[in-house]
Amino acid sequence: MPSRTYKRHDRSDIFIHWFNAACWLLLLLTGVGLIQNPDVDPFGSGYPAWLRSVVGGGGNLLAIHEFIGLAWIAGFVLYLLVNFRGARFFLAEVFAVSPARDMGWMLKKMVLMTLGPKALKAVGVSPDLPDQGYYNMGQKAFAQASVVGGVVIAATGVIMYLSDRTFGAESTGMIGWAVALHFISVGLVFAGLLVHVYMAAVSPEERPGFKSMFTGVVPGDYARHHHRLWWEKVRTEPEQGSE
Ligand code: HEM
Repeated sequence: MPSRTYKRHDRSDIFIHWFNAACWLLLLLTGVGLIQNPDVDPFGSGYPAWLRSVVGGGGNLLAIHEFIGLAWIAGFVLYLLVNFRGARFFLAEVFAVSPARDMGWMLKKMVLMTLGPKALKAVGVSPDLPDQGYYNMGQKAFAQASVVGGVVIAATGVIMYLSDRTFGAESTGMIGWAVALHFISVGLVFAGLLVHVYMAAVSPEERPGFKSMFTGVVPGDYARHHHRLWWEKVRTEPEQGSE
């Protein structure tokens, strides 16, 4: 039975994920280059100065950053038009949290990854993780942060973009908040992103999930072991490939 595959993502899901990842990379690289404050610049002033010289000045770098940000927002609007059902499914899965099962999973997973199963057994707790659905609680926590953070980053980015063009001096307070929230949200999502990339691309046990972000499908034994509640729902459905 578990040798068959189960469809996890369709083509538009795969496209929006990698489009989002590429935009994030470019926005981080250009955004960090825009920082001109030695007290907060993560790589020192050498990188911003170098990037500005490569693109012909800070004005050009800002225009490039804004262009990528607007293309990022447009990509998501297009995705919502093409696959609104997929987006609704994603949001429903990501924000559905069962406190007892999901918090238990999260706490045990953290102990297993740091201290190992012996630490749980030593205090009389079974190291078996509670069954998870389409996403596990770690994936849900990161997805929640990236959805909320993404909306804040996009909205504050648009406010900053318009501030150079249309807003007057009376909007200075709002623009100050937009700048602060933009930075805080990027920082929080980036912190989660480090764990996400490790879990998704480096951790060997998640390798079938990584491959599914290209093929759209996962093998049955992976689905059963990692996402049992989802597997129980879909196991009787006919086999599908990625569309
Ligand atoms: C090199 C970069 C990245 C890699 C290798 C990667 C890999 C993956 C993989 C393999 C999955 C599928 C998990 C599954 O369905 O079982 C996934 C899902 C997801 N990715 Fe990424 N990703 C990357 C960058 C990003 C970025 C930049 C974001 C957003 C800031 C992001 C947000 C998400 C979200 C929200 C999901 C669904 C929930 C989850 O599985 O955590 N990813 N990613």
